[in-house]
Amino acid sequence: MRAISLAVALFALFSGLYNYLNARLEQFYIFDHAHLHDLSQRAIAAHGNDTRAVVNYIVAELDEKTPGTYINHEEEWVFNNAGGAMGAMYIIHASITEYLIIFGTAIGTEGHTGRHTADDYFNILQGTQLAYVPGAYEPEVYPQGSVHHLRRGEVKQYKMDASCFALEYARGWIPPMLFFGYADTFSSTLDFPTLWATSRITGREMISNLLKGKF
Ligand SMILES: *[C@@H]1O[C@H](CO)[C@@H](O)[C@H](O)[C@H]1NC(C)=O
Repeated sequence: MRAISLAVALFALFSGLYNYLNARLEQFYIFDHAHLHDLSQRAIAAHGNDTRAVVNYIVAELDEKTPGTYINHEEEWVFNNAGGAMGAMYIIHASITEYLIIFGTAIGTEGHTGRHTADDYFNILQGTQLAYVPGAYEPEVYPQGSVHHLRRGEVKQYKMDASCFALEYARGWIPPMLFFGYADTFSSTLDFPTLWATSRITGREMISNLLKGKF
């Protein structure tokens, strides 16, 4: 009986805390998706298809304009397998409520977006991304300079036919998304060194940001 009352009390506490924080997520955000889209377009205008220079331009401006020290300058690229798609990512920022990464592949990929507890803004820096939702007969086409907004809770099939890189910004609840990011390691790749590198970088960024008071 006591265990049940304790479980009920804990559940009430957590759901209360969740509802409280969920209604106030906005106040924890330090990035603005409209700025990130504008920044991506300016970076492309300045450096075209020199994507390395585009990325450097983006990180330099974020470093200058983001209050505090929440930007990871180390280009620590790691593979990412999720939803059947494969690419690599460089984590620029990761915290409990936001992440900002460069994601892409030089040879194309295809998969399931995942159903996420965050809004996802995929700013195309190079190449084209296609997306499909059941019931449509035409693809959604996202060319260089555009942004693909995948709303919290929505799912799509997506594809990059060839080389494609994006500045991906997610805001909402980030920790639950990690399960999707890890599932393919256990069901398919068994690439534990990559799993370790991803966890080490993500954990380090999330915890150091939390210690700086960035939730
Ligand atoms: C990048 O390359 C693609 C394919 O060659 C081309 O269509 C596009 O206009 C180029 N973009 C820029 C900004 O130069």
